[in-house]
Amino acid sequence: MRASCLKIPANHTVPIAPHYCSSAPSPATISFNMANFAKIFASRAQNVLQTAGRQPQVAARFSRSVSSGSNWEFIKTDVTGEKKNVAVITLNRPKALNALCNGLMKEISTALQQFSKDKSIAAIVLTGSEKAFAAGADIKEMVENTYSQCIQGNFLNDWVEVARTQKPIIAAVNGYALGGGCELAMMCDIIYAGDKAKFGQPEIALGTIPGAGGTQRLTRVVGKSKAMEMCLTGNMISAQEAEKLGLASKVVPADQLLAEAIKLAEKIGTHSSLIVQLCKESVNTAYETTLQEGLKFERRTFHATFSTADRKEGMTAFAEKRPANFTNE
Ligand code: CAA
Repeated sequence: MRASCLKIPANHTVPIAPHYCSSAPSPATISFNMANFAKIFASRAQNVLQTAGRQPQVAARFSRSVSSGSNWEFIKTDVTGEKKNVAVITLNRPKALNALCNGLMKEISTALQQFSKDKSIAAIVLTGSEKAFAAGADIKEMVENTYSQCIQGNFLNDWVEVARTQKPIIAAVNGYALGGGCELAMMCDIIYAGDKAKFGQPEIALGTIPGAGGTQRLTRVVGKSKAMEMCLTGNMISAQEAEKLGLASKVVPADQLLAEAIKLAEKIGTHSSLIVQLCKESVNTAYETTLQEGLKFERRTFHATFSTADRKEGMTAFAEKRPANFTNE
């Protein structure tokens, strides 16, 4: 990593090691028996409870350090929404079309870790500029990389935080989402696209291949034929096609994109954050295991909601014809 590309915020708080994050098992490592299932379930349930149990004072400290937002070099952060429960991370490297240099990815990881620990934040929106969500990994930064440097430096390892974050992340994509930019959007939970957005995996034209999920997540979403076409040609697809393929869940006029994404985050924020977290893990499990294992995971997670105050409150509120008052417990 180039030192010049990474600036640690002056008020940076060293993040707690992300032991609470779920470690997604690959299909290859899952042997399909109940013992393994129970292990996965127990570890995920523990992750949820550990996060839920963090002290509010700690959360408040993190909130202040993130929302000040003035010391980032490559991103901006903000807390918004009527209840001030939506975090917005804006990629802010306009001259390079938000190319994802190491410093930028480290700042995203740090901001995500801090927002994750902030109990007042219900959901996170990740966005870029009107011209570019992100034009990919920083080509100029990696042009001299060698194979041994990539291996020994574990190149792209700083990119995993987005997919590990337990809170919902919405990618609000305007303009180019290319290469690592498309991969970054796909690491998020939901993609909203501005009507001029363009998605693509152009790495093939650079003599390389996608390295942060482009051949894997894209294939799972759009199917083999379209993923092959995109990865082997480098051709971009429009926002409208992305929506048709299920890559984006909604297309809106570019100038309304951020507001729409924040509205979505606020809607998610009306629910119990504890149950939202369990639900997100359950949907993600669909990508990581077989149908039978996934169904078992879902069933046990559903059962687990019966140990929460919010499940009781949600059902009681329905029966009493009143809004639920969730406590995230
Ligand atoms: N890395 C570094 N710099 C980049 C960049 C990138 N991925 N994308 C754009 N830039 C820079 C340009 O070099 C240019 O800088 P200068 O003004 O200093 O020359 C500036 O951003 C503006 O770019 P353009 O002049 O090229 O803008 P344009 O409007 O003519 O074209 C574009 C826009 C089609 C997005 C074009 O910039 C482009 O093709 N970018 C590269 C896209 C790409 O190949 N992405 C994949 C990267 S590899 C990867 O991501 C690997 C992985 O899987 C992790």
